[in-house]
Amino acid sequence: MQTDFLVIGSGIAGLTYALKTARAFPDKKITIITKTQADETNTKYAQGGIAGVWDEEKDSYNKHIEDTLIAGDDLCNQAIVEIVVREGPERIKEIIGYGAKFDKDEKGDYSLGKEGGHSENRILHHKDVTGKEMERALLEELETIKNIELINHWFVIDIITQHHLGYLVTKSTLDITCYGVYVLNLHTQQIEKILAKIILLATGGCGQAYRTTTNPVIATGDGVAMVYRAKGKIENMEFIQFHPTALYEPGVSPSFLITEAVRGDGGILRNKNGESFMEKYDDRKDLAPRDIVARAIDNEMKRTGTEHVYLDCRHMNKEKFIHHFPNIYEKCLGMGIDVMQQMIPVAPAAHYSCGGIKTDEWGRTSIKQLYACGECASTGLHGANRLASNSLLEAMVFGHRCFINSGQLIDELSFEDRIPNWNAKGTNEPGEMILITQSQKELRQIMSDYVGIVRTDVRLERAMKRLDLLFSETEALYKSTKLSPQLCELRNLITVGYLIVKGAEFRKESRGLHYNTDHPKKSELLQNIIL
Ligand code: FAD
Ligand code: SIN
Repeated sequence: MQTDFLVIGSGIAGLTYALKTARAFPDKKITIITKTQADETNTKYAQGGIAGVWDEEKDSYNKHIEDTLIAGDDLCNQAIVEIVVREGPERIKEIIGYGAKFDKDEKGDYSLGKEGGHSENRILHHKDVTGKEMERALLEELETIKNIELINHWFVIDIITQHHLGYLVTKSTLDITCYGVYVLNLHTQQIEKILAKIILLATGGCGQAYRTTTNPVIATGDGVAMVYRAKGKIENMEFIQFHPTALYEPGVSPSFLITEAVRGDGGILRNKNGESFMEKYDDRKDLAPRDIVARAIDNEMKRTGTEHVYLDCRHMNKEKFIHHFPNIYEKCLGMGIDVMQQMIPVAPAAHYSCGGIKTDEWGRTSIKQLYACGECASTGLHGANRLASNSLLEAMVFGHRCFINSGQLIDELSFEDRIPNWNAKGTNEPGEMILITQSQKELRQIMSDYVGIVRTDVRLERAMKRLDLLFSETEALYKSTKLSPQLCELRNLITVGYLIVKGAEFRKESRGLHYNTDHPKKSELLQNIIL
């Protein structure tokens, strides 16, 4: 199969790019591939909304820039922050143009919410299901366009480079180039080769590396692992963001999110004794940036010997609560919790990967013809900790920037037709699925117990030793077994786990989301860790 533009991922990043590219190049072929169905993405589960300077009387670009830089704990790339904040509102207007609906107040103005780390109300939202609405609008817009093919249930295994032509490719090879991907067609179980001139990775996050996560099952860090295997650059993977308030429901995965917007509207965190505690940790109390709130909760849980704290909404206006958070209200009611009468049990859960595939201001990776945007990319926007609701914004801004830059290249490029077909010789049907599922469990256990909110050198060392063993067992399985999505995802998650631990070991200070009790914060160690 050949296509001019190949997009891997159908979340907000991939769809934004594909729509723009298809409109600008009606004679070119754009193919979007997704490993399950099109709308099963992290995007669909976004609750709080999308940040953007909307009300310029009260808010300003400078304030949004400042808030992003403060949350990022001095590790953001300021030029990138300026780009995203200044270009963001234009991108939001475009998705409104596609039909996305954001809530309005009685006067007909957009009702702007607030979340941790924001100095102003600037979050556009659709109830507490913003991502679902945005994904709907993008997918419906896609249906109006003829030159896009959307293929579901195709699992991309690896990107194709010179390595597949028999050349030695190492980290120091100049001009590594991407020619396409190998993909497991889940309808036929065959491995196909797709050649493309431009390839965009928009494969999302990696929350599934942890036992407790808000991320759906697709979030296995596939794009990051593929680029690492292809010797491309990955950075800042140690900055895994834990959302402070996932609903505490033991044994349920993924965890249901209680959006930070609930705290923005007045919700208060309390410990098991009913005491509010955030004032002990930060002047911004319940609306401090996420790294601070998640660590405070972790500390309160350890101090009081509990597995969760509470979010108290009992003092909030019932009508307003139900209007803004109907999904959360219903979910809690379904569990027997009337949020107007009882507090909601919450605990932190792995939520967002701030690092990822290193990209420049046009979304270019270190591999030629390969772009990345959305959660799988590390643009420099988030630094050591993402400001709430900046992710959807970043995905749209960089979806656009990748489109501009790759569009300028397309006519100079041709297909590389010497690429061999996938060779599955010598592999057998998997004997025992339990080998894979058990290893996945072990991986999540290792990452949650040793590489969570609070880290130490000893814990990281242990994690690395255990990951090494999982790695060698899984590589042996990979070489001898017919591929399945489960095996590929396990392999990718182990790689991502390794990158998180390696990044954490290299960073000899605590900063933002990376908190190591053996290494306090140091002012002179402001750098990105590139692997
Ligand atoms: P995704 O939307 O995750 O899409 C990834 C796509 O890649 C999927 O189509 C998947 O099938 C495909 N894919 C992955 N691997 C492969 C493969 N190997 N082969 C083929 N296809 C593949 N951010 C905000 O800004 N505001 C919010 O309010 C907010 N709330 C959130 C709430 C929750 C519960 C979660 C989980 C996240 C939230 N976030 C929020 C973060 C935000 O939703 C994500 O960062 C963003 O949606 C990521 O978009 P994306 O397009 O990069 O990836
Ligand atoms: C939330 O709604 O709390 C999630 C927002 C985000 O992750 O940006």
